[in-house]
Amino acid sequence: MIEPRTSIHANPPATVETEIAALGRWFHNLHLPGGTQTAPDHPLGDFPAYKWKHLSAHIPQDLTGWSVLDIGCNAGFYSFELAKRGARVTAIDSDPHYLAQAKWAAKQYDLEGRITFRKMQVYDLARVKETFDLVLFMGVFYHLRYPMLALDLVVQRVSRMMVFQTLTLPGKEVVEDTDGLDFNNRQRMLEPGWPKMAFIERAFAGDPTNWWVPNHACVEAMLRASGMQVMKALGHEMYLCAPDPDHPSVVHTWNADELLSATGTNRHRGRL
Ligand SMILES: C[S@@+](CC[C@H](N)C(=O)[O-])C[C@H]1O[C@@H](n2cnc3c(N)ncnc32)[C@H](O)[C@@H]1O
Repeated sequence: MIEPRTSIHANPPATVETEIAALGRWFHNLHLPGGTQTAPDHPLGDFPAYKWKHLSAHIPQDLTGWSVLDIGCNAGFYSFELAKRGARVTAIDSDPHYLAQAKWAAKQYDLEGRITFRKMQVYDLARVKETFDLVLFMGVFYHLRYPMLALDLVVQRVSRMMVFQTLTLPGKEVVEDTDGLDFNNRQRMLEPGWPKMAFIERAFAGDPTNWWVPNHACVEAMLRASGMQVMKALGHEMYLCAPDPDHPSVVHTWNADELLSATGTNRHRGRL
């Protein structure tokens, strides 16, 4: 019997380029070991490498022995940079499309052994007990309908440092004294530096998953209220933070019940 001839074009061998195309669309422009990039025409430029330039020097070069949690890891850019410095990384994202990219890219960098990927919502951290030396909570906050709930959950997983990044409103003004207004005096809340967030009912920049955009004062106030101290506001809407033992979150003082109920982790198991 004569075997049908297989065209040499029937199953061309997968190249890095064809695999990148099959895994698209990419949000992270990864520079892969062979020099190929995953999103060289990114509308934001070489993203997020240009952001990393502002952050890189503030994170220890040697992360041997450090544990890292990368929340909303996307295709894994930051996880890879931190794993290259020796950290053991847990990378979570709610979107399987991005996790598939990240798992594939981890193989290209030969970093699979250092990074654990999990499909998880940030709110699932309510059931995680482990803490991490470094937590990255970057580019996720404004995508959340329940942002303060998420922040309260995230900071409880931080043992040393957190990097927080969000889309923000224009302006750097800060009204520091927000205490003690009386009921009929709300005019001051309209001042530019009063902590506030804009709510997006529909889409922003064509993306219906954007919900809240805080101003700079609000970011700092929310971080403080969640028990963090802002060590440094870095460029590009990034904040380097550490737990503030002198000002713990109200979650640890008078308001734990609200968080437990909001996350379904209280003792009332649906019985009235
Ligand atoms: C704008 S990208 C930011 C990616 C990366 N952290 C960065 O800063 O470049 C937002 C990422 O967060 C993920 N994400 C959105 N909502 C999430 C949620 N509720 N829990 C976990 N990940 C979420 C998205 O799938 C996406 O990968």
